[in-house]
Amino acid sequence: MTASAWPTCWAPLGYGVTDTPEGADLVVLNTCHIREKATEKVYSELGKLREQRETQAEAGGPRLGIVVAGCVAQAEGEEIMRRQPAVDLVVGPQAYHQLPELIARAHRARGERLAADFAPEEKFDALTAARNPTGVTAFLTVQEGCDKFCTFCVVPYTRGGEWSRPADAIEAEARALAEKGVREVTLLGQNVNAYEGQGGLAGLVKRLARIEGLDRIRYTTSHPRDMDDALIAAHGEVPELMPYLHLPVQAGSDKVLKAMNRAHTAESYVRLIEKIRAARPDIAISGDFIVGFPGERDADFEATLQLVREVGYAAAFSFKYSRRPGTPASAMPAQVAEEVKDERLARLNALLDEQARAFNDAQVGRELPVLFEKPGRHPGQLVGRSPYLQGVHVSAPDRLLGQIVTVKIGDASRNSLAGTLVGSGELEPV
Ligand code: 5AD
Ligand code: SF4
Repeated sequence: MTASAWPTCWAPLGYGVTDTPEGADLVVLNTCHIREKATEKVYSELGKLREQRETQAEAGGPRLGIVVAGCVAQAEGEEIMRRQPAVDLVVGPQAYHQLPELIARAHRARGERLAADFAPEEKFDALTAARNPTGVTAFLTVQEGCDKFCTFCVVPYTRGGEWSRPADAIEAEARALAEKGVREVTLLGQNVNAYEGQGGLAGLVKRLARIEGLDRIRYTTSHPRDMDDALIAAHGEVPELMPYLHLPVQAGSDKVLKAMNRAHTAESYVRLIEKIRAARPDIAISGDFIVGFPGERDADFEATLQLVREVGYAAAFSFKYSRRPGTPASAMPAQVAEEVKDERLARLNALLDEQARAFNDAQVGRELPVLFEKPGRHPGQLVGRSPYLQGVHVSAPDRLLGQIVTVKIGDASRNSLAGTLVGSGELEPV
């Protein structure tokens, strides 16, 4: 089986994880439905896997099982089976915990016997990454689904309404991760700051910050509407909460934001960022942008550029609007021509690249706490993360893996930083 983050609940079926699909018994393709391009990629990957199955069979190797998981499976399961009959199993995100059972069933359907003595557990308990963290950083799902219904987006349809995982279960998983050497967790949710447990996301962050060994907390993705005062204040109060916030705005024109059903204006977003920066002045902001939403005129796009200039992003993801079947925006008039989208995307990316570059350059000469995550490309080198999520390359001994150490930044590129240990690396972790 491939895919690194898959848990060990497969083990009772006799499956382990491999690094490459070649020679695998089973490949699980985890899929994304958010834009058309991602969806189309699934079908081309499936074509390749079918070929691999044939080559593998001719060479007398194991029969390659093909499973499609994720939101494409959820949204167009029957279509997948029709377009690529080599697929053995299609399973949506709500049924991952049943995957071992479903696979066992698929084996039985082919007349194969398989010892499957796994215990039926709840989805997150069954899928907890805590069983098998692969490094010093880990993702931790705390929330799923979305009720916001942005008019361009399939998530509310594919992932359903907002649901928050009980805080006790989250804390237990976080403790288990910390005991296994994880020092940084990223709390995950499609709308993570809509977390509804006691005290909201701020309460959860504070609770997790008390866990011994867990020194860094991040969360993603957030909606501007759910950035409440307690969460903003937490950025100033909780040292473990890293000064980096992904807060998508999508567009800078109020007319477009309204048509997107974003429930905020450009102005209210900018004021929100000011408030967050007042609580944590060094916070780095990243965002998502869509260009070419239906009805977007040149002046609307200029307003997006203007907002980007006003906010100043450390990093960003920008997309051409992709028409998703069943969403309100797909039926809107005044769809924007592809060439116009291309041109706007290029202009937006040029500005965002410039800002990302400037943000990285601004770190040169600073001393930053870096969490060393893995060996670098060259011997004697380690790669770590700055508080602002930048990769940092440093000459450092392996014993510093998993440590947070002060690094003086000497060099910056578009995607990463390089620096030297302050002192001789003998410093106490900060
Ligand atoms: N077209 C383009 N981008 C989209 N996103 C979501 N739906 C679409 C779409 N139909 C982007 C948004 C969101 C990110 C996860 O994907 O920017 O924040
Ligand atoms: Fe999609 Fe995010 Fe809007 Fe929800 S808030 S509908 S996930 S873009």
